[in-house]
Amino acid sequence: MNTLDIKIENYLNQVYGDRSGVLREMEKEAEKREFPIVGPLVGRLLYQLAKMINARRVFEMGSGYGYSAYWWASAMKSMGNGSGEVLMTERSESNRKEGEAYLNRAGLGHLAQYAGDDALAAIDKVSGEFDIVFIDADKQQYPIALQKAAGRVRPGGLIVADNVLWSGKVVEEKGDASTEAIKEFNRNLFSMKEFTSSIVPVRDGVAVAFKSM
Ligand SMILES: C[S@@+](CC[C@H](N)C(=O)[O-])C[C@H]1O[C@@H](n2cnc3c(N)ncnc32)[C@H](O)[C@@H]1O
Repeated sequence: MNTLDIKIENYLNQVYGDRSGVLREMEKEAEKREFPIVGPLVGRLLYQLAKMINARRVFEMGSGYGYSAYWWASAMKSMGNGSGEVLMTERSESNRKEGEAYLNRAGLGHLAQYAGDDALAAIDKVSGEFDIVFIDADKQQYPIALQKAAGRVRPGGLIVADNVLWSGKVVEEKGDASTEAIKEFNRNLFSMKEFTSSIVPVRDGVAVAFKSM
């Protein structure tokens, strides 16, 4: 899940500096049960992207126990009057419960809440536009997730997706179902004329797509 050289990753972690106690706890939990959180380097990128476009409304597809949501919500808290909402989605009830507890303890519970269990169903149920849609759920659903996200992001907003290099498997000519779905996602994303996109090769690859105004 990591395309970065470990020495570079360690260097970046050192340069980026330390993190809050709750974030650290969430990272330790991920390590303990090998849960695929975005990690601190991508987390920092999410935080920065939210601040760059003054994001006040983020929809997350695949929130786990709230680690990536923590970064979005803390960006919102740090800007202006500190308002905003992160609408999280997560299939696992125990992850949802754990996420609520972590975010409440971090003083971010008023900014980040679970909006449903299935991401693709929940985005259809919630009305309005989003500043950012973040895709990090079932990899085989990435192409449909992209379709849904594209229509819901405001002009000047972002689609952000994790794992788009998929441990480097995207270079395989014929991969498994998840690999092929991610390759399709990347092809579709770069063919969308209303979005300007890049893949940032941090950790497992993060796609950042800006919707023209
Ligand atoms: C990579 S983890 C998310 C990690 C999280 N974004 C973070 O960095 O803290 C993917 C999560 O998506 C959930 N998931 C998979 N498919 C889903 C779906 N269709 N709707 C909602 N959650 C889904 C899984 O249960 C898993 O917890």
